[in-house]
Amino acid sequence: MKVLVTGGLGYIGSHTVVELIASGHEPIIVDNLANSKQSVLNRLQKIVGKDIVFEKLDLTDKDSVEKLFTSYPFDAVIHFAGHKAVGESVAKPLEYYRNNIDSTLVLLEAMSKHNVKNIIFSSSATVYGNPSELPLEETSQTGIGITNPYGWTKYMLEQILTDLKASDDSYNVTLLRYFNPIGAHSSGLIGEDPSGLPNNLLPYVQQVAIGKLEKLKVFGNNYDTIDGTGVRDYIHVVDLAKGHVSALENIGNQNSVGIYNLGTGNGVSVLEVIKAFENASGKSVPYEVVDRRPGDIAACYADASKAKAELGWQAEKTLQDACKDAWRWQQNV
Ligand code: WQD
Repeated sequence: MKVLVTGGLGYIGSHTVVELIASGHEPIIVDNLANSKQSVLNRLQKIVGKDIVFEKLDLTDKDSVEKLFTSYPFDAVIHFAGHKAVGESVAKPLEYYRNNIDSTLVLLEAMSKHNVKNIIFSSSATVYGNPSELPLEETSQTGIGITNPYGWTKYMLEQILTDLKASDDSYNVTLLRYFNPIGAHSSGLIGEDPSGLPNNLLPYVQQVAIGKLEKLKVFGNNYDTIDGTGVRDYIHVVDLAKGHVSALENIGNQNSVGIYNLGTGNGVSVLEVIKAFENASGKSVPYEVVDRRPGDIAACYADASKAKAELGWQAEKTLQDACKDAWRWQQNV
């Protein structure tokens, strides 16, 4: 299938492009390079051994998007593009609502005009808010206790896509709710490359291990968890990418909106991540326990059985695999 991959030079988008090509699909990447680098394209082409079509454009630019859809007969869209820093979204809510909502509406209007009816949307476990039950199922409550505008944009876009499907059953809509993506492609050529100080745990740990940062701040150790530190469902980004290919190859098999948790089903604490990374890298990761980070929840992990049953997908790589791959990437970046 000819697939438009928005945000395709980003962390998850780029890994998904690799897996799409490996499965015989033809991705066309668009990206505005707001949170990615064009050098990723060269690295992708080196990994897959072929040229990949890339168009630099901003999805809020209607004329550019119209020209894009006139140029290519897309069979489907995988929509990653959007701002995604939780803390930044609290500081800049209007920018997040304008960018994430507006870009998606422009995209959907172009899809409608050009009769492109298959869309896979990059959603997030953030839509579950502060879980009242674990593991999280797709039927778990959403939209309550979301603590940031980034999460609200994901929730709102899920609603927009659900209403679109309800208005016209010829659309095939799949919502993929990611847990915590980590790791990198085994080549060490692509991976997570946050600009500035990393917000997320693994990139921060990586930079401490390589000596770019002095020590990790562990945000609280008094949660009701195995060792008091935050528990999350860390999924290897390559497994996550393969989940998108499975969703693409099953799109249209659902008679309603397809909603799937993409996680491992295992909860892992911050201290367990530190230990796994030290084992994988052979480096020590000094840390200091500090106060909790506002907006953090104690624990969050998936019941991923629906994706296995309906998409034939499950996470296969381990936390150790992800730490090894992340360390290899950190030494190359
Ligand atoms: C993980 C754990 C922290 C940094 C966010 C978004 C989510 C998704 C993934 C986009 C928590 C602890 C972290 C640090 C720490 N992003 N931590 N010191 O907050 O679970 O999820 O990123 O889709 O939508 O909400 O990820 O990596 O920031 O935190 O102790 O320097 O590590 O408290 O327990 P989070 P995270």
